[in-house]
Amino acid sequence: MKFDIQPTAETAGSRRASKLGAFPPAWRSTFLQYFHLGSRLPSNDAIQNNMLKFADTDFEGQSGFVDQEHREQWGRQRRAMEEGLVPSDLQKRLRTVRERAFKFARRAFENGLREARLYERGIENAVMLQRTDFDMMLDGLPKALDGYRIAHITDCHFDTNPGLLARLKGLVYRESVDLCVFTGDYQDNRKCPQASADAAAALVELIATFEQRDGALAVLGNHDRTDIVEPLEAQGIRVLANEWVTVPKGRDQLVVTGLDDVHYFETPMAYRALAAAPEGFRIVLVHSPDAAHAASLHQHDLYLCGHTHGGQICLPGGRPIITNQRGHPRFSRGRWGCGRMAGYTNRGAGTSLMPVRFNAPPEVAFITLRRFKKRLD
Ligand SMILES: [Fe+2]
Repeated sequence: MKFDIQPTAETAGSRRASKLGAFPPAWRSTFLQYFHLGSRLPSNDAIQNNMLKFADTDFEGQSGFVDQEHREQWGRQRRAMEEGLVPSDLQKRLRTVRERAFKFARRAFENGLREARLYERGIENAVMLQRTDFDMMLDGLPKALDGYRIAHITDCHFDTNPGLLARLKGLVYRESVDLCVFTGDYQDNRKCPQASADAAAALVELIATFEQRDGALAVLGNHDRTDIVEPLEAQGIRVLANEWVTVPKGRDQLVVTGLDDVHYFETPMAYRALAAAPEGFRIVLVHSPDAAHAASLHQHDLYLCGHTHGGQICLPGGRPIITNQRGHPRFSRGRWGCGRMAGYTNRGAGTSLMPVRFNAPPEVAFITLRRFKKRLD
């Protein structure tokens, strides 16, 4: 699929943040907190009504691999891999040395930021959640999907980002989209079952604050536990674990394939799901960009992911220092192409390891699919 990309529209959030640049940081954060959290929060009744609505949401079309046997096989494999992340005694000793070295380096870096009086600014940057609105021009997009609007939210790490849920709710409140997609890392501490339950509750509360006509879909990230699947699905957020769903659109159909994380939990099941997706306009949801080449080879049209946090700490101009992904550095943030497939790597809403961001503001993306019309002259 040939595609074209229009320049990023300057969003209200980014304009607001840049216009505030001349003010002292304390004034900026007070203003932004007021703007995001003040009068825009929904009432409890509105949230409750929406929760009831989403509990009934179901996809009208077919779904692939979503049967008890597939789920049980995937669940067994995933849990075994999660337990496999618990190291043996020897590994623990080796890991202790590595972890100490890492902690030392992290503290040295944090102290360096404090000495340079940048640490507080990094924390302020990390809470300045922005919205990114843009049109994704796609050749071959069915007419019925022209203007289809997707909200893309990822990498919330709710347990280490207090206040993020309120900021997210303020930002998406009363938005109306066709589909909401979550691409993983809802919690930070993968050893904590309570963090899974809290993150699931936060996501359910979040989707109740805005409208998604075709519902909400989610995939798991490398920090997530299998425990989160049940509470999400009980409240109408469909989790795709190497599965696909279809949404009929006139004579055509939208096919959304969701993979389990391929960064830590890669299995052949993920690639089988990519290969088995039916014909239609095909979107892939994956936590990280690591499966981009495979998705492109299997003729998927659009790839949405997160995981990299856009680098989280970047050099001026947005060049990441660490990308934490296996692909080309260009996959680490924003829009990119891989063969005939278009892709978007979301910078994520939260932080991990350190509560700071530089030159990589947190975001929620609103993506509008547009047909690319060829010029005849
Ligand atoms: Fe991740």
